[in-house]
This record gives sequence, structure tokens and C-alpha cells, in this order.
Amino acid sequence: MMLSDTKPAPAPVATQSENLTPDHWFGVPVWSRVIAAHPSLNPLLLDATARLEATTPSIHRSNVGGWHSPPDLHRHEDFAAMRRIVERMAVGCANSLGFDFARADLIFQGMWANRNGPGDYNKPHVHPNAVLSGIYYVKVPPASGNIEFHDPIRERTMTSYPVRPGAEAARKRLEYKCRDGLLLIFPSWLSHSVQPNASDAARVSIAFNIESIPKRRPPA
Ligand SMILES: [Fe+2]
Repeated sequence: MMLSDTKPAPAPVATQSENLTPDHWFGVPVWSRVIAAHPSLNPLLLDATARLEATTPSIHRSNVGGWHSPPDLHRHEDFAAMRRIVERMAVGCANSLGFDFARADLIFQGMWANRNGPGDYNKPHVHPNAVLSGIYYVKVPPASGNIEFHDPIRERTMTSYPVRPGAEAARKRLEYKCRDGLLLIFPSWLSHSVQPNASDAARVSIAFNIESIPKRRPPA
């Protein structure tokens, strides 16, 4: 008797369907706003950043190339207006996340300036030990690199099936088109990267991390 490994073809599921709209859970917020004062604010920030770069060596984090200032600009008078804008936005974001201001405060973990020249970029990274992170665009020449957010649900990779082009399920990363005056805030655990600067001009931005600290209890 001959053994055969030929099995009958499995019957595909019929393709007639009901129309259904799913609930979406575990959403990831990204807040964006173009700051109305950017035409007057950005020249001041550009000057302050250039003065700082002239006297301060770059530090290295996620940046490949470019200049990265020390992360203490939230204490710097030249960046006080930027700090106030970030504070107001961050409190709004925290409120929408349900942050309990009765039990903890938000503080700046850091704020820093970035200048990415031609070819410079930022590798995918997260910001540990912070609650909210963000970036404000001071000068964005055309084609100088957009920010990309990466799908944080790794379990999605456990199944594979063909997806129609353009379907949401085909999206592994989300790109925000950067422009002068745009402020983005997102959860600090959300992986992000910056595309290489394909222009011949510098791209300048200011980034920040906000962290949570417990409120001090009065002494017993
Ligand atoms: Fe970052």
C-alpha cells in the first residue's frame, strides 16, 4: 500500500460578510498643535540655540550627527517662553491621560535643542522614566526629515496575513510631517525616530521630557 501526503485542499471561509465597526482599545495618543506665536518666537529660539552651540560641545543620545545641547534648557532664561508653552500643553495632555495631580507633580526631566544638518538623523528610541515627551519645530527646511512613530504592539508580529495596500493594519509606523511652529507631545514610551535630513540646510528643534514625582507628604 502506498502512503500519500496529498491532503484535500482546505475549504476557504466564505467571503460574504456582515458590516461591523469594532471598538478600538489601547489607543496611543499623540497631541499636535501649531503654536500661534511661532513667527515671533522662532527667531528668538534660533538665536539662542546658535549662541549656545557656539560655546557648547554636542552630547550624544539618539542623534547620528548633528548637534545636541545639554538637557538643561528648561532652566535657561532664553528658553523660558518655550518652557511656559510646553508646561501648559503638557498639563492638558496629562489631564486627558487621567494624571492625578493630587498625588504627584510633573517636573521637567530635561529640555534640549537639536540641530540636524544634511544627512543627520535620529535612531528609534524611547525616553525612559518620563511620562510625556515632545518636540517643537523651530526651523524645518523642506525635506529635512519627518518624525516617525513606531507601532508599540509587538504581539501583532505573531500573526501574518496579506493586507490590502493603505489599510490601517498595514501601518507599522506613522509619519508626522514637520513644519515650523508645530509642537508634538506623546507618551515617553512610544518609540520614535527622525528621518535623515535630505536637504542642504539645518533643521532645528527643541525636545523635552516631563516626569512624575510623588507629592511630598507633610511631616508626621
Ligand atoms: Fe526622542
